[in-house]
Amino acid sequence: LPKAKGYYGPLYFYQGFWCPSFSFKGFISFQKYFQALDTDIILVSMPKSGTTWLKALIFSIANRHKFSLQDNPLLNLGPHSLVPFLESDLYLKTPNPNFENCPNHPRILSTHTPYASLPPSIKDDHSKCKIVYVCRNPMDVFISYWHYLGKLRTENMEPMSMDEGFEMFCQGIHGFGPFSDHVLGYWKANEENPNKILFLKYEDLKEDITFHVKELAKFLGFPFSKEEEDRGVVEEIARLCSFDSLKDLEVNKSGKSPLGYPNSVFFRNGEVGNWRNFLKPSMVEHWEKLLQEKFDKSGLTFNFSC
Ligand code: A3P
Repeated sequence: LPKAKGYYGPLYFYQGFWCPSFSFKGFISFQKYFQALDTDIILVSMPKSGTTWLKALIFSIANRHKFSLQDNPLLNLGPHSLVPFLESDLYLKTPNPNFENCPNHPRILSTHTPYASLPPSIKDDHSKCKIVYVCRNPMDVFISYWHYLGKLRTENMEPMSMDEGFEMFCQGIHGFGPFSDHVLGYWKANEENPNKILFLKYEDLKEDITFHVKELAKFLGFPFSKEEEDRGVVEEIARLCSFDSLKDLEVNKSGKSPLGYPNSVFFRNGEVGNWRNFLKPSMVEHWEKLLQEKFDKSGLTFNFSC
């Protein structure tokens, strides 16, 4: 397989995308063996697009009748243990994970796999499982990624300059990249099948979280009742899953994700437009051109500030 040096270990080029070598085996097993259930909720994202946030939101919405907010296991386990990644947590360990141990039902599972490479049982016309896709503007994704990988880098990994990392990101050589193919794959799939795929943008959630919590609940088949809305349940869930609330949980300060990463690396500042503090004008210009080329015809636009 074509191989590239990623900013956190090598990447393999497979089925049109760059798969981190450490999760490649897990991805292959996931693609080959995963059997979706009609009740499954599959959360998909490009890394650094709001996965942690959506894991917390979806879990809290789908399970709100099982626990009071104070007893929500999110508070002790954190989003990543509650909603595992298919390729890098579950199938990395074994080609036959025991879903009995899945900490939630309906199963809520997460992946970074591009649409074209999803296992057939998820995309099958007969499958009623739901896909929630969250995307984020590429400049914030890049900056978030940059900091995240910097925190995970160990001493034996060569550091990479931001210029070099940026160049690779623009060329699509980054985990699950190219960015544009990933986002457009789900954008098109959502246009074709809006009942199956909910397409969300990080920036829209930042702008109006209450609206999106209700939309998510409706899409997943657990709409809020009038009584719940009057009791302020929507706002409570939004508050519980907010950046400040999650970041301050002990499990996210000192706990580890199933892959062994400190949970704290998933929380930096959670802003829209943070890229402005880092990217040079020439880098911004470069992305503006790329965006025009790749996205103009699709009708998909990004917010770069809120
Ligand atoms: P920043 O590095 O820009 O702060 P992912 O979860 O896909 O790995 O994405 C991580 C990004 O989402 C980080 O962005 C992180 O701070 C932000 N994030 C994590 N939890 C969040 C939340 N509850 N609300 C908003 N942003 C959140």
